[in-house]
Amino acid sequence: MSISGKKILIAVSGGIAAYKIHFLIREFIKKDAEVQVIMTPDAEHFVTKLSLSTLSKKPVYTDFYNENGTWNSHVEMALWADIMIVAPCTANTLAKMTHGMCDNLVIATYMSAKCPVFIAPAMDLDMYAHPSTTQNLELAEDFGHFIIPAENGELASGLIGQGRMAEPETIVKEVEGFFNSNHKKTLEGKTVLITAGPTYEAIDPVRFIGNHSSGKMGFSLAEEASKRGAKVILISGPTSQVMGDKNVDVHKVTSAKEMLQKVFEFYDTIDIGIASAAVADYAPKEIAKEKIKKNDDSLTIELIKNPDILKTMGEKKTHQFLVGFALETQNEEENAKGKLEKKNLDMIVLNSLRDEGAGFKNDTNKIKIFTQTEKKEFELKSKDDVAKDILNFVESQILK
Ligand code: PMT
Repeated sequence: MSISGKKILIAVSGGIAAYKIHFLIREFIKKDAEVQVIMTPDAEHFVTKLSLSTLSKKPVYTDFYNENGTWNSHVEMALWADIMIVAPCTANTLAKMTHGMCDNLVIATYMSAKCPVFIAPAMDLDMYAHPSTTQNLELAEDFGHFIIPAENGELASGLIGQGRMAEPETIVKEVEGFFNSNHKKTLEGKTVLITAGPTYEAIDPVRFIGNHSSGKMGFSLAEEASKRGAKVILISGPTSQVMGDKNVDVHKVTSAKEMLQKVFEFYDTIDIGIASAAVADYAPKEIAKEKIKKNDDSLTIELIKNPDILKTMGEKKTHQFLVGFALETQNEEENAKGKLEKKNLDMIVLNSLRDEGAGFKNDTNKIKIFTQTEKKEFELKSKDDVAKDILNFVESQILK
């Protein structure tokens, strides 16, 4: 879902970060949102009505009355808005918002608003760390408002610390995330099983064979599928990722064999299976009972093939839509298409370690998707956005 056509009310208070609002308005206007700007009287010391109204294509108001004696209705503006963003939000404006000190147009409009409110605080680091600010931000959160925390960096005072208003791109992302999270529950009624992370194959009680998978790709997929209304079962190898979505049913496993067993506890009940785990292909034939001692110059460990979880899923497929991943370093497309075929998949997602920013660990990935008949290539994106692309593609296939 985009923010095109959304009505965004931006309330600017008097801080140096007000200059960033020009960029924020431009971003929203580029995305075809409608923007109405209001300001506190002090904000006018930092930015002009003229520049803000030129960018927002609407008059900017600071007072209840116009020069020509007409009334700027705070109630009308408040009810017009789909969301209100207070940015920058100074310590003073925050305190007024949380304590009902209704002495200007911004606060009157805020108190009349029924829409979701976003707050992007900006102030010097000591003001930001002051207990009154912390308490007021907590209060605002209790009111149900969305806080977009200030960032660390150089402040107008020359000091360095937390207090810089979040960058316009961050604010836009938050807002888009908000509208997206309200998007249609396109996977409602579907059960999605996702494997994630690495597997660890024990050598002895202290050592294992593993790989660099962080689990991020799988966790992003699980969160996105859950946002779309699916019942999500996430089976994850050892990872430090934390699942933020309480609706996702997380099962932790260690080895490939445990992962296989867990997958098949649920397999008959799922509609969609997505295998993003980096499963170890081989495991030690024997697991030493005690820690292996450093005696000889070399050590040989016999490895035997692990079960191929996804291949087994493919063999037992009845109604499930199966998505595999292919992590390649050479002959990427050929190998990915080979896996699509061999594992009886409906779709495969190729990520190549030759693409910078793709594959393991990174917060980003760059993928190509293949089905028997289609190929689609995507840009380098955050794993959260890659998860959206993958699920959009899955939906386009299952709804065919
Ligand atoms: O976890 P991150 O740090 O975010 O990194 C994400 C990722 C790079 C691990 C992920 O995007 C990815 O590519 N996962 C698959 C890695 C992999 O093992 O690829 P493969 O080409 O070796 O395996 C092909 C497919 O078979 C995969 O879907 C894999 O889950 C599955 N498989 C492989 C071996 C095996 N024994 N059982 C399996 O199920």
